[in-house]
Amino acid sequence: MPEETLDFDTNPPVAINEYDNMAQMALPGYEAMHTMALSCLKAHLRETGNLLIVGAGTGMELVKFGQGNSQWQMLGVDPSVNMLSIAQEKIQQHSLSERVKLFEGYTHDLPATPLYDAATCILVMHFLPDDGSKLALLQSIAQRLKSSATFIVVDMFGEKGTRELEQMISILKLFWQEMGMKSEIMAQLLETFNQSVYPIPEARELQLLQQAGFGNIIRFYTGLWVGGWVAIKD
Ligand SMILES: C[S@@+](CC[C@H](N)C(=O)[O-])C[C@H]1O[C@@H](n2cnc3c(N)ncnc32)[C@H](O)[C@@H]1O
Repeated sequence: MPEETLDFDTNPPVAINEYDNMAQMALPGYEAMHTMALSCLKAHLRETGNLLIVGAGTGMELVKFGQGNSQWQMLGVDPSVNMLSIAQEKIQQHSLSERVKLFEGYTHDLPATPLYDAATCILVMHFLPDDGSKLALLQSIAQRLKSSATFIVVDMFGEKGTRELEQMISILKLFWQEMGMKSEIMAQLLETFNQSVYPIPEARELQLLQQAGFGNIIRFYTGLWVGGWVAIKD
């Protein structure tokens, strides 16, 4: 099933060359979350391994994991040519070209082999509605993983329209103010949240992971409205 998703080339939530700065401001603990994801991977993987980085964007994971382990090979997948062009620059700057490759497109466009030792899908799934698209993405990743592979998903969670999420958004706005975010950027992000973001409750997150063939799930990170889970492919 083609995944309906926000197009970062034609309609980016923030200007692409501002993405890295904005992500640090908008997402509580953005860098620390990637460091924790690296720790989760190190806890499960050997010194050598082949990792699939879904929604590689501007290359945050590729650089962080590439520097965190000197032998892992990675494939970064993303439909946005503009995001990937920034990732490509970083790969070169950090001399990672031998071990890190990029694929412009979706996970379901990848060949069925090779199978990977681990995958990450960080800050992607909330752009897909829960109409089968989220599950299809998780399944397309699971199909490309070895048995017992590690999977990390980071996603916005909660239920739109509930008091709990409304309160969380109020806190988030104050967090953004503390971070010095301009009010027009806040308005732009909230507009994206209202129009193009589909958070789901944690229980649904776990259910989808299980349906896609993942078990042993633990939450390793929470930053207000964003959660991170590590799971093992059955
Ligand atoms: C918010 S950025 C996250 C980038 C990076 N993972 C990070 O942690 O900063 C979301 C990225 O996911 C990509 N994306 C959107 N839908 C996707 C899909 N169905 N499969 C893979 N990537 C997707 C976008 O093009 C964008 O580059």
